[in-house]
Amino acid sequence: MNFHTGRSQDPEKLEPTRICVIGAGYVGLTAAACFSELGHEVRCVEVDAARLAALSRGEIPIYEPGLDELVTRHASTGRLSFTDDMASAMDDVAVAMLCVGTPPRSDGEPDLRQLARAAATAATAATRDVALVVKSTVPPGTCEALELFVGGQARDGVRVRVVSNPEFLREGRAVWDFFNPDRVVVGADETDLARVVAGLYPPSWPLVECSRRSAELVKYASNTFLAVKISFANEVAALCEALGAETDKVLGGVGLDARIGGAFLNPGPGFGGSCLPKDLSGFIAVAESAGRPAEVARAAQRANDMALASLAGKIESALGTLEGRTIAVLGLAFKAGTDDTRFSPAVALVRELLLRGAHVRAHDPIARVSEAGLSQVADPYEAVHGADALVVATGWAEYRDLEPARLRHSMSGHVIMDAVGVLAMEPLRDAGFDVYGIGRGLATSFAPVLWRPLEWMLDAGQPSGVQNP
Ligand code: UGA
Repeated sequence: MNFHTGRSQDPEKLEPTRICVIGAGYVGLTAAACFSELGHEVRCVEVDAARLAALSRGEIPIYEPGLDELVTRHASTGRLSFTDDMASAMDDVAVAMLCVGTPPRSDGEPDLRQLARAAATAATAATRDVALVVKSTVPPGTCEALELFVGGQARDGVRVRVVSNPEFLREGRAVWDFFNPDRVVVGADETDLARVVAGLYPPSWPLVECSRRSAELVKYASNTFLAVKISFANEVAALCEALGAETDKVLGGVGLDARIGGAFLNPGPGFGGSCLPKDLSGFIAVAESAGRPAEVARAAQRANDMALASLAGKIESALGTLEGRTIAVLGLAFKAGTDDTRFSPAVALVRELLLRGAHVRAHDPIARVSEAGLSQVADPYEAVHGADALVVATGWAEYRDLEPARLRHSMSGHVIMDAVGVLAMEPLRDAGFDVYGIGRGLATSFAPVLWRPLEWMLDAGQPSGVQNP
């Protein structure tokens, strides 16, 4: 059993296929390495010269457990190679995977220009009939439109068709997720093509075969549902706090219902990263343009937008003011297990604290951020030295081991906000800290829990059968 793939070293035997992967970013590099592990011959095209040079030296430009091992192994088996030459990479290739970015435009819809350019270049370079497989997350209709767009660009006699095969990998667990998928989704409007793409994966993996627009929507709807789930968990956590209920027991109890499931019910500072926020706004925009407003998705987005201000407000009310206060922020990555800080709630919080007049000193085990006014240090104890408050903003496991007595000794204040729920509260309280959290720790507001039910009971008057003493 391999630690990162969760599979034996001898994957199921597959018909080896020559694949061209376009884009060695997070999705492309993972796909390239994992498909070569499955036995395919993968040529990966990367146009960024610095990234290509790094890859050719065997350096992995992203932090992803297990990826370096696979890249090194298959660079030496010869099943994985990197180039910037599309013509040689596409030579005699029947499957090309488009793994380029689809960043959000200012109106919330994805920018598909990189995808169109990559598809056109691949179609022009194709020497035989080819399936262009879209791995990037795209709005329904994109694959069909792409096929029309590249239609006239291939050389005579070469047919270019487009298939949707969305990626469901999580950053920080991408290799594991690739080899242990909940499903492989293949959207193709012709059965022969669906077979070719499905045949790249082991036959025992769960497969959903559907139309292209359905496959595209599976991805959008999945990420939107995860976003809704997190926003709902945050709403329940806020309610628990106000009512004095135990958030972990409440959400734990809810998640035990098999119809609901316990995953993605951890409250926090709101969801971030380069996928959930982008795909949620993409889903909303698609629904809007289809004349079917996505009210649930919109509410999840609004709730997420409010989560950060509410967190900053809580820290401010715990300290009285943020003006001139020194705050240690532990964690900058958008979640634990990655060095990615794109749309990171932790970074957004740092900005908000700076805006409200605080001095911020931050630590992250691997992520680096350049932000005016932010000083970043290499050790969490250095970050807390002389600080008025400590905020844990990314759930790195190593923050669990922080020693309460040492923190108390180093800090000048006694406020801790654990926004991601990784710290044990009791020992910190015992060490003299005021500990806050999301749905746990000290509450900043209370609701009149008993009053309303009592009022209703009193409305009922004297119950029959109850005797006055
Ligand atoms: C997400 C999906 O989980 C993947 O299935 C999908 O393939 C990927 O987007 C993508 O579209 O490429 P990822 O963005 O790597 O993966 O991160 P997640 O683990 O989903 O976390 C997203 C955000 O939600 C993070 O900010 C995380 O802290 C937050 N989160 C997650 C919570 O606040 N609570 C939870 O219970 C779970």
